[in-house]
Amino acid sequence: MLPLVPSIFLRFIFIFFVVVHGSKNDSIYEILKLHGLPTGLLPKGITRFEYDDTGRFEVHLDQACNAKFESEFHYDINVSGTLSYGKIMELSGILAQDLFLWFPVKGIWVDVPSSGLIYFDILFVYKQYPLSFFETPKDCLAISNSESGDSIRDGQLLAEAISKSQSAKLGYEPDEENFGRNEM
Ligand SMILES: *[C@@H]1O[C@H](CO)[C@@H](O)[C@H](O)[C@H]1NC(C)=O
Ligand SMILES: *[C@@H]1O[C@H](CO)[C@@H](O)[C@H](O)[C@H]1NC(C)=O
Repeated sequence: MLPLVPSIFLRFIFIFFVVVHGSKNDSIYEILKLHGLPTGLLPKGITRFEYDDTGRFEVHLDQACNAKFESEFHYDINVSGTLSYGKIMELSGILAQDLFLWFPVKGIWVDVPSSGLIYFDILFVYKQYPLSFFETPKDCLAISNSESGDSIRDGQLLAEAISKSQSAKLGYEPDEENFGRNEM
């Protein structure tokens, strides 16, 4: 009789999991949690998002904004990426400030099981922070069209230039300069 108990228990857990997992109108914060990630990775108050079962998500903020953790993070109006357990890859729309410059965050992950740390793949560097910094969603403040806006733009241009030169090196793209030159 004894082996029966665990199997019923497991089945119960399985049903519970399917119900939770299958719910179509989870919040994006629930979806982060289901992937073992802290909800504070995205700012407070997101209601518009898309998520499909390949893990691809896109969230829509009301406006681009900045949130202060240990360092400052910038969120574009649209943030997208691909979720898998403990990871977000192919991230776009989040920048982190370092040495007064802004760099795009390309990926974020945690250890499984958790070590209490979270890792950021930021253009050129990997950074780690205590997971607890990202436990709850933060207020995200609209940025004024000042210096900050300019340096964020610079960071994005830099990132684009680098990803272009990388894909050119790897031969993924035709040489646009010779290809698309137009007569003006
Ligand atoms: C989820 O569905 C419930 C009931 O169908 C609804 O009341 C709630 O507003 C929905 N939540 C979201 C975030 O859409
Ligand atoms: C953000 O996403 C919306 C909906 O997909 C789109 O209409 C809009 O052009 C996007 N904005 C930017 C700045 O990419």
